[in-house]
Amino acid sequence: MKIAALIVAAGRGERAGGGIPKQFRLLGDKPMLAWSVDAVRASPLIGRVLVAAGPDDGERLEALGVARDSWIEGGKTRTESVRRGLEALASDPPDAILIHDAARPGLSQAMIERLCKALADVQATAPALAVADALKSADAERLVTDDVSRVGVWRVQTPQAFHFAPLLEAFRSTEANAAFDDDLAIARAAGMSVRLVDGDAQLMKVTMPEDFSLAERLLCGGGTPCVGTGFDAHRFGPGDHVTLCGVRIPHDKGLVGHSDADAAWHALTDAILGAAGEGDIGDHFPPTDPQWRGADSGVFLRHAAALVSRAGGRLTHVDVTVICEHPKVKPHREAMRVRTAELLGMPLSRVSVKATTTERLGFLGREEGLAAQAAATVVFPA
Ligand code: CTP
Ligand code: MG
Repeated sequence: MKIAALIVAAGRGERAGGGIPKQFRLLGDKPMLAWSVDAVRASPLIGRVLVAAGPDDGERLEALGVARDSWIEGGKTRTESVRRGLEALASDPPDAILIHDAARPGLSQAMIERLCKALADVQATAPALAVADALKSADAERLVTDDVSRVGVWRVQTPQAFHFAPLLEAFRSTEANAAFDDDLAIARAAGMSVRLVDGDAQLMKVTMPEDFSLAERLLCGGGTPCVGTGFDAHRFGPGDHVTLCGVRIPHDKGLVGHSDADAAWHALTDAILGAAGEGDIGDHFPPTDPQWRGADSGVFLRHAAALVSRAGGRLTHVDVTVICEHPKVKPHREAMRVRTAELLGMPLSRVSVKATTTERLGFLGREEGLAAQAAATVVFPA
């Protein structure tokens, strides 16, 4: 199933204040919008990512690595921003779409998986939380006029996920200025089947000024840092390049291995699995299994990162060291860093790639092969 993500970020954040639209304000170590963009980019389930933003937000988006062809100008209302996003995708339509508020930075991989899975049975779905407080209705003077039952009442969050074609049809047959609370309401009005799945307190919407510190505490605060380490070595063999951190580096030899022999990403995968207490790469991808022959090691790394995220952990820092005499890694270091950060959905500042030699000592010094070691830090909820 081809799944796209539309992140609506064209609001001006009037209620949150702060001088710039709230989605571009820092939350922890990155702008709020980057939290959602990184989450959908890191998901193997999601293909195209589109952001709806304000007409003057181009530079801010570029700073987040959102290229011009990955964003469109949103509209005056949220519904209008969504409509424009859907129309922009209509020429090459996905099968399904996740529509998400940039104002909800706490999107986990587990939630993306839950929503995509739910689309097998229904045409639309969204995360929702049961109401814990008592509900009252009151008049303009706040005199209580009624008790409201909370039985069967849910607080609905985003992302809201839909089969694309019927949703586009629903928006096209909805009047431009019709008022709907969310996209689910438009889908339901058009007769689409809708089911709620378990929501997540971390998906809170940042609306008022005080919500920033709450979101920061939820997403960045406390927790137990766990550090994992990994090591891998591969023998040189015939070939004309090696692959390190997903980057093809020309060399007069290749690396021998069952997969693409990317020792750097293998070491990093082991480091992440180590931090999560999830065994090692061989447990998850046995070298005896023919399906991993020549495999792109990005698959292994994504798998390890998804395990961390499913366990509620947050990968906060990775550091990789390649050990070899040749090829010289330095000219490729930045590309390796960028590739790793992209794949893991991490800010570049939290991804380190280094290289060293063994002063011609040992099997690495004799250039019989190449090795890599890595460390990964994962913060788990306290
Ligand atoms: N949004 C949008 N286009 C609009 C209005 C809102 O894309 N014309 C997006 C916001 O950027 C946000 C989400 O819809 O990610 C939810 O909206 P809200 O929390 O109301 O954000 P703002 O409209 O920016 O805030 P405010 O209403 O306080 O101005
Ligand atoms: Mg608004």
